[in-house]
Amino acid sequence: MFVLSDEQKALADAARAASLAHVAPTAREDDERELFRKDIFRALGEAGLCGVPTPEAWGGLGLGYLDYAVVLEEIAKVSASYAVTVAVNGLPQVILSQLGTDAQRAEWLPRLAAGEALGAFALSEPSSGSDAASLRATAVRDGDHYVLNGTKFWITHGGYADVYVVMARTGGPGPKGIGAFLVAGDTPGLSFGKKEEKMGMRASPTVEVVLENARVHASQLIGGESEGFRCAMSALDSGRITIGATSVGLAQAALDAAGAYACQRKQFDTQIIDFQGVGFMLADMACRVETARLLVHKAAWLRDQKLPYSHVAAMAKCVATDAAMSVTTDAVQVFGGYGYTREYPVERYMRDAKVMQIVEGTNQVQRVVIARHLKRHYGEA
Ligand code: CAA
Repeated sequence: MFVLSDEQKALADAARAASLAHVAPTAREDDERELFRKDIFRALGEAGLCGVPTPEAWGGLGLGYLDYAVVLEEIAKVSASYAVTVAVNGLPQVILSQLGTDAQRAEWLPRLAAGEALGAFALSEPSSGSDAASLRATAVRDGDHYVLNGTKFWITHGGYADVYVVMARTGGPGPKGIGAFLVAGDTPGLSFGKKEEKMGMRASPTVEVVLENARVHASQLIGGESEGFRCAMSALDSGRITIGATSVGLAQAALDAAGAYACQRKQFDTQIIDFQGVGFMLADMACRVETARLLVHKAAWLRDQKLPYSHVAAMAKCVATDAAMSVTTDAVQVFGGYGYTREYPVERYMRDAKVMQIVEGTNQVQRVVIARHLKRHYGEA
């Protein structure tokens, strides 16, 4: 776990090469113009990066989350937006791998894993973010179909995705009354509202998704009618590892940029890294990156070993996203006035980092998950 295997190093090299070839050339322009390019996602798929942990039988690489973390870190060093694209496209895959029927898997997994189809995850609503179990979208059975109504907010890939996993209420209030549905992007009654104008992560589209009498066949229900909340929570456990890995990549990119700049920039005839104020700042940044990576890799390793990992994934998400925020902010500081301009990418890293503390469960929600784990642990002791 402390050193990557030769296979993982090769995977990292492949992810780095694909990201430099396909993502880097327009990373700055895509951030400035809030542009998401599906052809870049497809190119990452062709490079084998869009279905790392999905079983080989269903078109993926059949590798573990540690391998997946390595890949996401490399993509994120070039563009956190496209790392998030790969990570979110992974949510329907993990859900179908765990809970889907063979027919559902056959229809979507090979295409999602190849980057031929783009996936999305629709849980949040205008009035239910952290309190996900209070969601209001409905799915009412009508013969062989369910009729879906409601509004989903903050949906990554909204309007671009070929398939959405939509959580909607099939029964009474609370987590037990929620089902999860596969909704194809061209389903009549599915439309798209406001595209958010964001501070960062601007090449990753975040869009309102509207369901108005959208009919989906009953065969598109994932698991049972009351399994939607569990399905979403379990997918988010995995997703939090991927958000952690993306944050590690973002933080590493900021450290690399700041370290190189501090060795090249001279003031008072001295490389600025030799001023203790700057050198110690870089040292603290390096400590945070290493700590974050270790915890993300531990969460991924626990998952790969099929050991309990939910609380460690929450810790990894918290630590890695906080590290990304602080390391990218310090990178801007090391660059001084230049860091605050568009001339260098560190200001983009800083803007991208902020949302990582919010998505896939705010860091306050992660602490709820960790504290509940501690209560079970010490309460039972
Ligand atoms: N895995 C499996 N089941 C789980 C689970 C998990 N990790 N966590 C909870 N459950 C189950 C519980 O066991 C319980 O079932 P039982 O009653 O049968 O035991 C049921 O789900 C309800 O659990 P809780 O009582 O713990 O639920 P809660 O309402 O108190 O919520 C919460 C807990 C942790 C706060 C949860 O609501 C949560 O994670 N909220 C944040 C939601 C979130 O991350 N949203 C981000 C959406 S994605 C995004 O950002 C955008 C995008 O495009 C990707």
